[in-house]
Amino acid sequence: MRLGTLFLGVGLASLFVGALGGEKAAQKEPQFPLSLFAKATEESYLGDDACSSCHEDVVAKFKLSAHAPHSNNPKLPVGKRGCEGCHGPGQFHVDENNPQVVSYTKMDAKQVAAACLRCHGDTMKLSHWNRTDHAQASVACTSCHQIHPKEADEGKPPADALVAFHAQPTPKKLLKGSETQVCGACHKKTVTQFKQNSHHPVPEGRMVCSDCHDVHPAKNARKDVDAVKGKCASCHADKAGPFVYEHDPVAGWTGDGCVECHKPHGSQNPKLLTSFSRGACAQCHTDKLSRHYPGRSCWSSGCHVAVHGSNTDPRFLRR
Ligand code: HEC
Ligand code: HEC
Ligand code: HEC
Ligand code: HEC
Ligand code: HEC
Ligand code: HEC
Ligand code: HEC
Ligand code: HEC
Ligand code: HEC
Repeated sequence: MRLGTLFLGVGLASLFVGALGGEKAAQKEPQFPLSLFAKATEESYLGDDACSSCHEDVVAKFKLSAHAPHSNNPKLPVGKRGCEGCHGPGQFHVDENNPQVVSYTKMDAKQVAAACLRCHGDTMKLSHWNRTDHAQASVACTSCHQIHPKEADEGKPPADALVAFHAQPTPKKLLKGSETQVCGACHKKTVTQFKQNSHHPVPEGRMVCSDCHDVHPAKNARKDVDAVKGKCASCHADKAGPFVYEHDPVAGWTGDGCVECHKPHGSQNPKLLTSFSRGACAQCHTDKLSRHYPGRSCWSSGCHVAVHGSNTDPRFLRR
């Protein structure tokens, strides 16, 4: 009887382990395009010279790519070197029965990300990328980045509606154009916001979108309060405190931090304010009746001049 239970126990345990093992194996099974690299051996890689015989132009032109010095590093393992590091083992491509190649124009955004992130794990992990709004909207690495240099007439970068009258900076980081060109091509509403009277100096070429936005989030894809405040504080430390007397929304204890009172891109009001009247303060201080306000606004009247916080006065009347 006892022996029976024991055997039954062992049987169940091994069944359980078996099921788990199977599940793990199924999860680990890499999907295309990573599957090609997974099943390759050293012999599957033919080297760039092999590509030259059929794609002479492409191989010659790739030398001009900013990516070429990285890809052509002879110290890289064979599976990460040259054309095949991105396009997969040449042997599979020239296989007459079942030709397979990693084509970035035919894959979906997820597959492109998986292929690029084989090597770019330092910039971000696939799981980090997948959480971004961009990944979720099927924006691909190649929507913003251009690996092979294009002919002057074929891939003109999108028109820049923002920094048009300034000297165009040369694209960095293999981007398809300057940052405002690339981002502005899809985010037209944001471009309009930067044209308002008060704006961050992006149109003047003194700032770029990625000064505030983590296009490649290392950990947290979503902009939470701290992330916004942290970003603003990195350039406006004097406004962020700490102060002896903190103002709750500036400190981030209430609401969304700085953007509770400021628009980040542009505003029709001075100082990027969401409102330039008592309304800016009355949205929270509802107990302060209109006769509490002597001037046009609570700060321009000369009263609460230290709206961000004060080291001397709990009511922010002095800095
Ligand atoms: C024997 C000739 C030959 C060799 C060698 C060769 N290719 Fe190709 N490749 C082709 C042909 C033909 C096509 C077009 C196939 C098509 O359009 O379906 C092609 C297409 C491609 C494509 C685009 C696939 C697509 O779906 O649009 C890529 C990328 C590519 N090759 C990369 C490479 C790389 C990298 C190498 C070197 C490892 C290489 N090729 C070696 C003949 C070759
Ligand atoms: C860092 C990754 C990377 C490397 C290295 C690379 N490519 Fe590409 N290749 C791409 C991407 C991405 C595209 C899609 C279009 C673009 O961005 O230019 C592409 C497009 C192509 C195409 C056009 C077919 C298509 O998919 O439309 C061919 C052919 C090609 N590559 C061949 C090569 C050859 C040959 C080499 C080596 C000299 C090479 N590539 C090196 C990433 C790479
Ligand atoms: C086989 C490995 C490998 C693959 C695959 C790869 N890269 Fe790279 N890439 C590198 C290395 C190595 C560097 C230089 C060091 C670094 O920045 O990590 C680099 C640098 C870059 C840079 C910075 C260039 C600069 O000017 O500083 C960009 C952008 C980039 N890669 C984009 C991509 C994109 C997009 C893809 C997918 C189409 C891709 N890479 C696929 C290895 C790779
Ligand atoms: C929405 C546009 C956009 C998309 C999509 C995008 N990137 Fe970038 N990438 C940028 C910008 C802008 C920069 C330069 C500023 C920065 O480093 O944040 C950059 C820089 C890089 C760099 C250089 C990083 C460094 O530290 O120097 C690498 C590598 C890179 N991107 C890889 C990728 C890969 C891989 C993907 C897809 C998983 C991708 N990018 C998707 C816009 C984009
Ligand atoms: C190919 C088009 C495309 C490009 C290029 C592009 N984006 Fe986006 N972006 C999108 C889409 C689609 C979304 C998803 C939400 C939406 O529809 O606005 C998005 C979302 C965002 C969001 C989050 C929006 C939210 O509601 O929270 C930010 C921030 C953003 N993009 C910034 C940038 C920056 C900075 C660049 C340039 C480095 C850029 N984008 C380039 C298409 C693009
Ligand atoms: C000074 C910092 C800063 C700069 C520079 C900046 N952004 Fe933003 N952006 C923000 C903040 C903060 C938010 C979140 C606003 C909120 O939550 O109310 C945001 C929101 C967004 C959104 C979401 C939609 C919206 O308007 O709320 C998009 C899209 C976007 N930004 C694109 C861009 C693009 C494209 C550029 C460059 C042309 C850019 N941003 C430059 C700080 C900035
Ligand atoms: C990369 C640095 C940087 C970051 C990050 C940054 N700013 Fe600025 N900010 C500037 C610069 C530069 C100016 C223009 C100052 C000038 O013209 O002398 C400015 C101006 C301002 C102004 C005054 C505008 C005017 O019309 O006088 C406000 C308000 C402001 N920023 C708020 C913010 C907020 C809120 C954030 C976070 C969402 C933020 N800033 C993030 C650099 C930055
Ligand atoms: C409770 C509303 C409120 C919040 C929250 C707030 N601000 Fe302000 N901010 C103001 C007002 C009002 C002014 C205009 C003050 C003036 O003109 O004297 C201002 C002005 C500014 C200026 C321009 C200063 C100058 O001298 O031109 C900057 C920069 C600024 N704020 C940054 C920030 C940053 C960074 C945060 C978040 C840490 C923040 N603000 C949060 C209300 C706020
Ligand atoms: C997002 C909400 C919010 C906004 C907008 C806001 N405040 Fe406040 N404020 C608070 C909170 C919360 C406190 C601390 C609790 C309290 O006393 O109401 C506070 C405290 C104060 C105090 C300290 C005195 C007191 O009552 O404890 C003053 C003064 C003040 N705010 C002035 C302003 C002015 C001036 C503006 C407009 C520039 C403003 N506030 C905008 C939320 C806000």
